Amino acid sequence: MKLEINGRPVLASPGDTIYSAAKKAGIAIPGLCSSDDLAPFGSCRLCLCEVEGQSGLPASCTTPVREGMVVHTESERLNRLRRNIVELYLSEQPAGDRAPESLQWLAKSLGLRQVRYPQPSHRQDVVDRSNPFFTFDNAACISCARCVRACDEIQGTHALTMLHRGFASRPVAGAASLTGEEAAGFASSNCVSCGACVKECPTGALMEKTVAEQGPPERTVRTTCAYCGVGCAFDAG
Ligand code: FES
Repeated sequence: MKLEINGRPVLASPGDTIYSAAKKAGIAIPGLCSSDDLAPFGSCRLCLCEVEGQSGLPASCTTPVREGMVVHTESERLNRLRRNIVELYLSEQPAGDRAPESLQWLAKSLGLRQVRYPQPSHRQDVVDRSNPFFTFDNAACISCARCVRACDEIQGTHALTMLHRGFASRPVAGAASLTGEEAAGFASSNCVSCGACVKECPTGALMEKTVAEQGPPERTVRTTCAYCGVGCAFDAG
């Protein structure tokens, strides 16, 4: 299948989205909720694009490619909207360099210099340390649901779910989420500590305790987890 992205001819396969086709062609599109290992979801809205002859600004990670499509992923209009999205994310984060590095990097690369919105009063600074291997810092979460999808699609454990809507939405672990007992946490859930959710988290809201204490590893290797025999592959530090 042939299409054009940012003036470049691109070959794509049936089943590709604009995002995946662009990535294969070496064209980077900003995005936080997309993952090679998960089904398209389209929650962060950073990957929006312009498709000639089509109204609106579709998310490139959920839009299938079509023969002859002409796509633009970079323009002042798109970057202005992306700046606004990142600004809204940052308005819920601790100020300055305490914000997640991925958001700081996006802000810098998009030219976002200041956050105009006051930090909302609904923000909850709750850190779940109940799992022996990783922590979940609710304040750093952007509700992209990659952790929930990883638990469902990769591990099949279904230990996580998104709770509430809008500003209050956030992932929670365990059956307690179904009864509204939100404080129960990972330790009381079905979580098997496989780490799939930690690997997928784009902001570090889910973080290995060793990384939190000692910093990121100097190198990572792609390996197959021997823990449960499912055969998932992970990047291990
Ligand atoms: Fe497409 Fe998040 S990467 S909406």
